[in-house]
Amino acid sequence: MFNKLCFEILNIYAFLQSAAGQVKAAVTAAIDAGYRHFDCAYAYLNESEIGEGIQQKIKEGVVKREDLFVVSKLWSTFHEKHLVKGACQKTLADLKLDYLDLYLMHWPLGFKAGEELFPADDKGMAIPSNTDFLDTWEAMEELVDAGLVKAIGISNFNHEQIERILNKPGLKYKPANNQVECHPYLTQEKLIKYCQSKGIAVTAYSPLGSPDRPWAKPEDPSLLDDPKIKEIAAKHNKTPAQVLIRFHIQRNVIVIPKSVTPQRIVENFQVFDFELTKDEMATILSFNRNWRACEMFVCKTHKGYPFNAEY
Ligand SMILES: NC(=O)c1ccc[n+]([C@@H]2O[C@H](COP(=O)([O-])OP(=O)(O)OC[C@H]3O[C@@H](n4cnc5c(N)ncnc54)[C@H](OP(=O)(O)O)[C@@H]3O)[C@@H](O)[C@H]2O)c1
Ligand SMILES: *[C@@H]1O[C@H](CO)[C@@H](O)[C@H](O)[C@H]1NC(C)=O
Repeated sequence: MFNKLCFEILNIYAFLQSAAGQVKAAVTAAIDAGYRHFDCAYAYLNESEIGEGIQQKIKEGVVKREDLFVVSKLWSTFHEKHLVKGACQKTLADLKLDYLDLYLMHWPLGFKAGEELFPADDKGMAIPSNTDFLDTWEAMEELVDAGLVKAIGISNFNHEQIERILNKPGLKYKPANNQVECHPYLTQEKLIKYCQSKGIAVTAYSPLGSPDRPWAKPEDPSLLDDPKIKEIAAKHNKTPAQVLIRFHIQRNVIVIPKSVTPQRIVENFQVFDFELTKDEMATILSFNRNWRACEMFVCKTHKGYPFNAEY
């Protein structure tokens, strides 16, 4: 019941988030502030509004399409090979683009195909599909050849799952990127080292600890309120969010903080005029406690659940 509720809250949440033109306004504010990388996904249910924001800025002549790096993700209900191209085309139509710079498999988890984003059984657990992500990957490779996407990658894959892709007989394209949760409470040292050693770029999601996630519990740790992060921030005359973002830049990790608040959108971009010292980086790394904001626990029993492996 609780799990099912979580799914429903997620759906409602994504819907509410896109209320009142806020998403479009966030995109135009971000482009004005200098952002060029947009992390989107079919499952966020706001690609159409993001597309409007992008279109407006292209029309105004502020940016050209080729200045932008637009990412989207294949949702888990589209893992059947014959559904992949249509899912990508729907995303492109919503975003009003004719290609994506990067298309990620959102999770190494296939769900039952259909209208519902989160098909759940009576216990609230996700209903798997009969798919193997290696087959899904082949269909994604075809998107590159068809010119719909420039590159393909993965998200929420553990290193064993990545290894399976890299070892796939007849692999045509390696994943260009793995997008995973990463911040000082989940530093991902082994996974980042592994990916970077294989030439797979890493993107850090929920870099601020996703404080607005609907399933947050009062006892959960809060990165933005962490006194030790605050102390480092004060030393540099920066905000905790800026330190949390800068932390990734110095590890060669791409970082995608989210905000719909114009002044925070600007604040989160002011991270190129200071440097954390070696000691500060080491200190921040020592805060690791393998804590996840995004556990996806409704998939704990799914054969592809990625977070049982050590990394
Ligand atoms: N691949 C995946 O499975 C996956 C999963 C989760 C997230 N993601 C991606 O990662 C992005 C970021 O992750 P996230 O949204 O979970 O969490 P996040 O970026 O860690 O945190 C976003 C929250 O922090 C607040 N915030 C932003 N800047 C702030 C600042 N300077 N000071 C104080 N608070 C600030 C935002 O509030 P306001 O918006 O109200 O300003 C929002 O509540 C998502 O947008 C999505 O693109 C991917
Ligand atoms: C779109 O929705 C997702 C999920 O709710 C959210 O993370 C993202 O920040 C939203 N995009 C914008 C530009 O508001």
